[in-house]
Amino acid sequence: MDSFSALIRTASHEQHVEAETSTFMSDLLGGGLGVDAYARYTEQLWFVYEALESAARRLAPDPVAGPFIQPELFRLASLERDLAHLRGPDWRSTLTALPATQTYAARVAECARTWPSGYVAHHYTRYLGDLSGGQIIRGKAEKTWGFERKGDGVRFYVFENISNPAAFKRGYRELLDAVPADDLEKQRIVTECKRAFALNTDVFRALGEEFPLSA
Ligand code: HEM
Repeated sequence: MDSFSALIRTASHEQHVEAETSTFMSDLLGGGLGVDAYARYTEQLWFVYEALESAARRLAPDPVAGPFIQPELFRLASLERDLAHLRGPDWRSTLTALPATQTYAARVAECARTWPSGYVAHHYTRYLGDLSGGQIIRGKAEKTWGFERKGDGVRFYVFENISNPAAFKRGYRELLDAVPADDLEKQRIVTECKRAFALNTDVFRALGEEFPLSA
């Protein structure tokens, strides 16, 4: 049988293409949307990472989720700097989650509370994606809206404490392959990963409705 890291990657491939080619992502990366759309998207990410990272300390000793809790991945502080740049020092006072984002963040929080393997599925879907496609998004964002290279506005995409992302991803896949779960539980993790992708796609759909290209 394929390794678990290969399995989860293959199983989510189709949905990855769907997320990547969603109307909102295409419009955003195609340069057709204003910085307000990018800021609104960044705000949504804040809620997701708040759910992921506020659980980190408690999950650190967990035998399943614990090995994945690596501070060099943490994004919340970077998101907050980006938001201060995008929205101003008062960014918290206008921060709101779209209903789709509330649903997504609530599911992450629920997994964190009750099902560490499910948390791993969400962890994988976000952080491994940020380390990969995130770099493409950063480049486009810098060019489209004139952010300083790797500076305020795109710090979310800059993993300052990961000098070799390819090596880090290899290590991450080894962690996935070593997850202490039987085949049935691994299948459940894959299902949760697909759910995580669907939750992301729902957020993109909502953002696409808020920011139609023609507007
Ligand atoms: C325009 C948007 C996106 C682009 C351009 C993009 C691009 C990429 C690229 C180039 C890779 C590397 C594949 C490899 O290592 O061979 C990747 C991996 C990945 N992406 Fe994306 N992606 C995008 C959106 C997303 C979204 C929205 C998610 C989920 C929230 C996501 C989750 C992932 C994951 C989990 C991986 C790791 C796959 C693995 O190796 O196991 N991506 N992406």
